[in-house]
Amino acid sequence: MAKLSVRNLEVTGKRVLMRVDYNVPMEEKAGAMVINDVTRIRETLQTIRLLQSKGARLILAAHLGRPDGKREPSMSLQPVADKLAELLGSPVKFVDETVGEKAEAAANALANGEVLLLENVRFQAEEEANDPVFSARLARLADVYVNDAFGAAHRAHASTCGVARILRAWGGQAAAGLLMERELKFLGDELETPARPFVVILGGAKVSDKIKVIDRLLEKADTVLIGGAMAYTFKLAHGGKTGKSLVEKDHTGTALAAEAKAAKRGVQFLLPTDTVVADLKDTGKLNKKGKPVFEPINPRVVEGDIPDGTEGFDIGPATAATYAKVIAGAKTVLWNGPMGMFEDARFAAGTQAVAQALVAATQTSGAKSIIGGGDSVKAINKAGLGDKVTFASTGGGASLEFLEGIPLPGVSALNDV
Ligand code: 3PG
Repeated sequence: MAKLSVRNLEVTGKRVLMRVDYNVPMEEKAGAMVINDVTRIRETLQTIRLLQSKGARLILAAHLGRPDGKREPSMSLQPVADKLAELLGSPVKFVDETVGEKAEAAANALANGEVLLLENVRFQAEEEANDPVFSARLARLADVYVNDAFGAAHRAHASTCGVARILRAWGGQAAAGLLMERELKFLGDELETPARPFVVILGGAKVSDKIKVIDRLLEKADTVLIGGAMAYTFKLAHGGKTGKSLVEKDHTGTALAAEAKAAKRGVQFLLPTDTVVADLKDTGKLNKKGKPVFEPINPRVVEGDIPDGTEGFDIGPATAATYAKVIAGAKTVLWNGPMGMFEDARFAAGTQAVAQALVAATQTSGAKSIIGGGDSVKAINKAGLGDKVTFASTGGGASLEFLEGIPLPGVSALNDV
């Protein structure tokens, strides 16, 4: 069902509460919290500017991290307000409350076109509980609601869902922002009737994390390419050796069922034929969970089985070449999940090859390339190719749930048209 668009709102002089996903990676440097990646902030500028140009009085609500309902200074949104002002090129006010007198006074004092960012909504336990009283207190800040937080739309929380329903019950409107619309278009509508061949590349650690997506996309795809550690569970299911690689022994049946479904539907389903493996050296250290930390050493390519004592960390060059060839012939490509442990340069070649093939298909044969969020977006940005694909989602868990076909509460709460 199509949702009301921010484009069609009359908001001159009105207070608009807009939920954004400013859950950005941060780290402490010289006593201050510094933002490492501004993508999520930059992606909301278009909607903010549209609302400013319409004369709205804009109140932004967002979460940062998981402070569990308590005020946690390192998770304050103040640095985000500063960064937003810089990117927007106009002042952004900040109030260190989310609801209540101070927040209401700040919202009411806004002139047309001015922007206010509220403090982290998750400093209040009622946010994640989707508490109706808290939702109503948020609703008192505004006349109209806009949701541009696709990345948080899978959460049924007060600021993503409850407040929209209350404002609507009070006679207000709840619309999708421009980023939200783009996400729904590329991860939804475009994949309903994709230009063919439609190639789906799935990676990541676990078959169990991706099986619902695999199952759903097998209904649409012409070819599925599998990479990442989940490929080892497929190998195990075929009776292959997986050495010390990450496998889900109780999901071999799931893997075989996916392949059987692909065969039945005539979907080409490709698994890696070679692997970059490494020996494991005990560092003598323990991780946070108290388990010994092993360092991969002596990386090398093996064909077929993964030797005893070694672990797989990336698809091998032959697999990368085969996958690149398939991608070159595609008209639509969806990519979710890296091919290996790309954070380590020794195991990044497979992921990079896929990223490059995807960009080449986009630029030379006009293929639509859609990156389904999370680690694959990180990987394509790391390869410096993030702006050369058709669309890269800002969602992580939200993209996955949406691709699985699960209705997102943050979207369902908006007005239908
Ligand atoms: C994300 O980063 O995926 C979203 O902002 C949602 O965050 P959450 O998983 O803490 O709800």
